[in-house]
Amino acid sequence: MRILVAGSSGGIGKAVVSLLREHGHTVFTVSRAGEVGAAHCIADLTSPESVAQVSQFLNRVLPPKVSLDAVYCCAGILHTGWNMPEKTLVQMSADWLQQSMAVNVLSHVHLAQAIAPLVTRSQPLRWLSLSAMVGSATDNGLGGWYSYRMSKAALNMFVKNLSIEWGRKSPQSVVVAVHPGTTDTLLSQPFQAGIAEGKLYTPEQSAERMVAVMEGLKPAQSGHFLHWDGSVLPF
Ligand SMILES: NC(=O)c1ccc[n+]([C@@H]2O[C@H](COP(=O)([O-])OP(=O)(O)OC[C@H]3O[C@@H](n4cnc5c(N)ncnc54)[C@H](OP(=O)(O)O)[C@@H]3O)[C@@H](O)[C@H]2O)c1
Repeated sequence: MRILVAGSSGGIGKAVVSLLREHGHTVFTVSRAGEVGAAHCIADLTSPESVAQVSQFLNRVLPPKVSLDAVYCCAGILHTGWNMPEKTLVQMSADWLQQSMAVNVLSHVHLAQAIAPLVTRSQPLRWLSLSAMVGSATDNGLGGWYSYRMSKAALNMFVKNLSIEWGRKSPQSVVVAVHPGTTDTLLSQPFQAGIAEGKLYTPEQSAERMVAVMEGLKPAQSGHFLHWDGSVLPF
């Protein structure tokens, strides 16, 4: 199968790429990092220019009239050196909310815009956006982490909308958001102290789970927000 992984320099993204290559798939990658190569596109998906960059890359690497079978969008941000998730309202800032929306939502939007011409009735596509359980309004009993929660909730709505649009033009396509579980990457590192034993997963475990979810997807699941075990999570 031909598979695209975006956010391929990240902890989960890198592990997904390795696993898919071990399985013998043809894997294309998109990241801000790395070197331009036959299968690698350098692009910052938060920027609108990335739509043309990724689409030109796909035109170059895919044979004529051949599409992708699956896409994993692994881009996401929870903190930077300067910004930690907000504990209270007063810690919210326009800058951090905008950056969270740019990485957690717009990067998925731009990638979908680049892929959209490939999605047709005869060439269905499976799309998996890495989301997070804390983006579930129903599940939110603790509060805090305003920008991350709000941007992941917005991502889930984007995925729902995209599933409807692509479902009309390509009924066998499937578009989902998936919670990978707390995974030992740079993203979760500052928050690992309080995690119950056995609940912090390796990037390899999470990659296995993301690939298993992807491989099991059926069109009836399109638009769902899924747990890493494939069960449905509430929005
Ligand atoms: N780790 C966890 O415990 C956990 C739990 C729930 C959900 N998730 C979700 O899983 C996904 C992958 O997370 P991860 O743990 O692998 O995190 P990670 O190692 O920090 O990787 C995140 C990726 O997001 C992209 N990214 C980050 N900041 C960016 C920026 N300012 N501009 C553009 N792109 C940026 C990067 O892509 P490139 O550098 O490759 O371009 C990076 O590889 C995220 O969506 C995250 O929210 C993770």
